[in-house]
Amino acid sequence: MNRLRIIDIQKMKNVRPIVCLTAYTVSVTKAIESYVDILLIGDSLGTTIYGMNNTQSVTMDMMERHGKAVVQSSKKPFTIIDMPYASYRNYKKAFFNASKLIKKTGCQSVKIEVNEKDVKTVSYLTKKNVRVVSHIGVKPQAFSNFSKIKAVGKSKSEKIKLLNLALQLEAAGSCMLLLECVYEETAKEITSMVNIPTIGIGSSIYCDGQILVINDVLGLNPNFHKPKFVKTYTNLPLEISKSVKKYSQDIKKRKFPSKKYTYR
Ligand code: KIV
Repeated sequence: MNRLRIIDIQKMKNVRPIVCLTAYTVSVTKAIESYVDILLIGDSLGTTIYGMNNTQSVTMDMMERHGKAVVQSSKKPFTIIDMPYASYRNYKKAFFNASKLIKKTGCQSVKIEVNEKDVKTVSYLTKKNVRVVSHIGVKPQAFSNFSKIKAVGKSKSEKIKLLNLALQLEAAGSCMLLLECVYEETAKEITSMVNIPTIGIGSSIYCDGQILVINDVLGLNPNFHKPKFVKTYTNLPLEISKSVKKYSQDIKKRKFPSKKYTYR
């Protein structure tokens, strides 16, 4: 099975919705990879895996380890890796760290959270042959408290600002745009204006593709404030508890390990 390339993803625009999820570990990557077009090794791993309150303390080392695990355990999806907070403050630092992440993990692209002043970084990275996914709208790295996050792009001025930014980022060479918590009308307009795919999280059905955080899909963030856009498809903690309760009972009743599980 050949891995999807950026050109394959870009050709999906206006054909069918692009399916994306985050992944951080080998076991989950193996379970989900055949159903998705794109896997993002998101810096959301700071909160989902490491129990941090936000993503600002995520390190290059964490991204490298999880990125490598996901790439090595998947065959088909296009892969994107998040550059951690403060790893792309200026364009030279961005290039150094992006090259390192790509070399160490084998990921096909990096994602950075951008505003107007970062367009130059996108352009520099693209010219140096680094594929860049530009994350606009709500940018989680700017928040130390996620409960303060609000959707953007509702007012006329916010809408114009986002539309202009999207156009600038396309011109700078972004291979895709990720739109987080962008109001429906604005997301729809951005998607129809640019030729590159838009992937939405909380940004309506009008984006070219959708992404969610895998832990949210699996119900694995029970204590986390659940934003409006999260659809939880299963209650994995309940399934885990039920299995481990049974395991514990089996041991206490000396039912496990039975002969079947014993070298004799
Ligand atoms: O880090 C992440 O998981 C993300 C999602 C919000 C798409 O950037």
